[in-house]
Amino acid sequence: MGKPLYSVTALFASPDALLHAVEETVKAGYTKYDVHSPYPIHGIERSMRLRTSPLGYFALAFGLLGAFGAVGLMTWITLVDYPLVIGGKPFWSWPAFVPIAFELTVLLASVLTVVTMIVVFLKFPNNSHPLHDTPYMKRVSSDGFGISIQADDPSFDEAVVRVHLARVAGTAIAPVYYDPEEMDHGQKLFDPRFIGVLIGVAVVVSGGTYVALNKVAFMEPYSWMMEQAKLKPQAPSTLFADGKGMRTPVPGTVARGFLPYAYAGKPDEAGKFLVNPLPPSALVLERGRTGFLTFCSPCHGNFGRGDSRLRGQFPNPPTLLSDKVRNWPDGSIYHVITEGQNIMPSYAGQVRKDDRWAIVHYIRALQRAHFAKESDLK
Ligand code: HEC
Repeated sequence: MGKPLYSVTALFASPDALLHAVEETVKAGYTKYDVHSPYPIHGIERSMRLRTSPLGYFALAFGLLGAFGAVGLMTWITLVDYPLVIGGKPFWSWPAFVPIAFELTVLLASVLTVVTMIVVFLKFPNNSHPLHDTPYMKRVSSDGFGISIQADDPSFDEAVVRVHLARVAGTAIAPVYYDPEEMDHGQKLFDPRFIGVLIGVAVVVSGGTYVALNKVAFMEPYSWMMEQAKLKPQAPSTLFADGKGMRTPVPGTVARGFLPYAYAGKPDEAGKFLVNPLPPSALVLERGRTGFLTFCSPCHGNFGRGDSRLRGQFPNPPTLLSDKVRNWPDGSIYHVITEGQNIMPSYAGQVRKDDRWAIVHYIRALQRAHFAKESDLK
C-alpha cells in the first residue's frame, strides 16, 4: 500500500451502542475521533464532550454589523450627504430606519453566517476527505452508526485501537488510508478550477439574463404590447396631413371644469374689477388658513412675514404685511395667486377659485392681527 494511515473505523448496531462506544472512547482518552450516523442523534455532542460551536458569535457579529451598518449609512445619508426635508420631519427620523435596520440585521446574520459556515468551517470548495468513498462512509450514510479514531491522536496505536473498538462491540473494524490528494485539507477558495466554475456560472447567468431581457422580451408574442395603433404625444404621425400627432384645440373651446381667467396678464384690471365673493366668516377664514399654511407658508412663512422655511433653496419673498399689499385691493392678491408674479409661480393649478378668495381673507386677517389696534380688542 504505502499510503499513510488516516484512521481506524468501526460500525455499531444502534444509536445506543454508538453512544456507549463514544462514552468509552472518551474515557479511554482519545480526543481525535469522529462519529457518523445517517441522522442527528440527540445528546451525542454531550457524550463527545464537544465544545459549543463558535458559529453563533459570527452570527451575532454579522447581525450587529447589519444593524449598525444600516443605521450608520442612513445617518450619514440623511445628516451629511443628502439632507432632505421630507414632510417637515427631522433629518434624523429614526422610526423610518427601523424596517431597514431590521432587514439588514436579518439579511447579514443569515446569509453571512451560512457563507462563513460553508467556506470557513467546512472549507468549501475543498471537498476531499479520506473517509469519502470508503465502505464505512457508504454504511454510515445509509443505515450504519460508526466511529473513526484518527491516527494523529496522541495516544493512537493501531493494535490498541482495534482491541478497544472490538471491546465496545464495534464490527467491521477497518483501517482507512490517505489518498495523496486528500492529504490537503486547506482552503481552496482560490483554486483555479473553482474560480473557473464561478466565472462560468457568471457568464451563463448574465448571458441568459441579457438574452431574455434584450432579445426574447422583444420577440413575438411579447412585443405585441409595444406595437399599438395609437398616437403618441409629442411624436410625429402620418395620420394627419400636417404630420403632427397632437392636435391643437378648436379655437374658442373651453376645457371641462375650466373657465378662462378674464384678467390674464392684466393685474391692474383684476385689482379694479374683481370682488371677493366670500364673506369673512369663521368657516371661510378657517379654509383660508388651511390653504395659506399648505400652499403659501413654505415661502411666505406662517404669518406672511417672508420668513420662510426655504433655507436658501428659493429666494425669500417680500412680507405680505407691507403697506403695499395692505393697500392692494383683494383682486390684486387674487391675481398674484392665479397668475403668479415674477419668480412666484401660479397656484391656479393647486388652489381652487373659492380657496383663493378664502386665502385672501386670511391674509387680511394676518395683516389686521399684526397691526392690531386698541379698538380691535373691544
Ligand atoms: C415658491 C415660493 C412661493 C410660494 C409657495 C408662494 N409665494 Fe407668493 N411670492 C413669492 C415670491 C418670491 C414673491 C415675490 C415675487 C416678486 O419678485 O414679485 C411672492 C410675491 C407674492 C405677493 C406679492 C407681494 C408683493 O409685495 O409684491 C403676494 C400677494 C403673494 N406672493 C401671495 C402668495 C400667496 C397667497 C401664496 C399661496 C397661495 C403664495 N404667495 C405662495 C414666493 C412664493
